[in-house]
Amino acid sequence: MQRTLALVKPDAYAAGHHGAIAAKIQESGLVIVALKSLHLTRTQAEGFYHVHKARPFFGDLCKFMSEGKILAMVLEGNEAIARWRALMGPTDATKAPKDTIRGMFGTNVERNATHGSDAPETATFEIGFFFSGLDLA
Ligand code: RTP
Ligand code: MG
Repeated sequence: MQRTLALVKPDAYAAGHHGAIAAKIQESGLVIVALKSLHLTRTQAEGFYHVHKARPFFGDLCKFMSEGKILAMVLEGNEAIARWRALMGPTDATKAPKDTIRGMFGTNVERNATHGSDAPETATFEIGFFFSGLDLA
């Protein structure tokens, strides 16, 4: 069993796709073990994406991630990290197959509907960023 962090980003949340995305996660067999919706401040978005601090898109990304509400979820299952990333599709929504979540609900390389952890260590940090041990008991 593995856990990963999934986010519905502000573009997809504002468009009302968070319910459809949660349904697709459940249909895939991954279990949503915790969830909450919230609106990140710019500073909180910078903290979440600190690994990208040196990247040219960091400022735009943090502005985008703090423009509106998001849905944060902890997903559990065998190989949850890889399965959720496969379900999302590639980062660039314009290149994502139409049967992936980014292909269905994303717009471009930045406004790409969802986030997923990329490794066990980042999943641990990212789950802890949004959820406490009590939320996951
Ligand atoms: P994520 O972390 O959100 O699940 O996405 P990812 O692993 O597929 O992509 P990553 O390289 O970690 O980038 C994080 C997010 O930054 C935005 N981005 N913008 N303008 C650009 O060239 C660019 N590249 C990436 C996207 O929102 C991406 O998901
Ligand atoms: Mg990433």
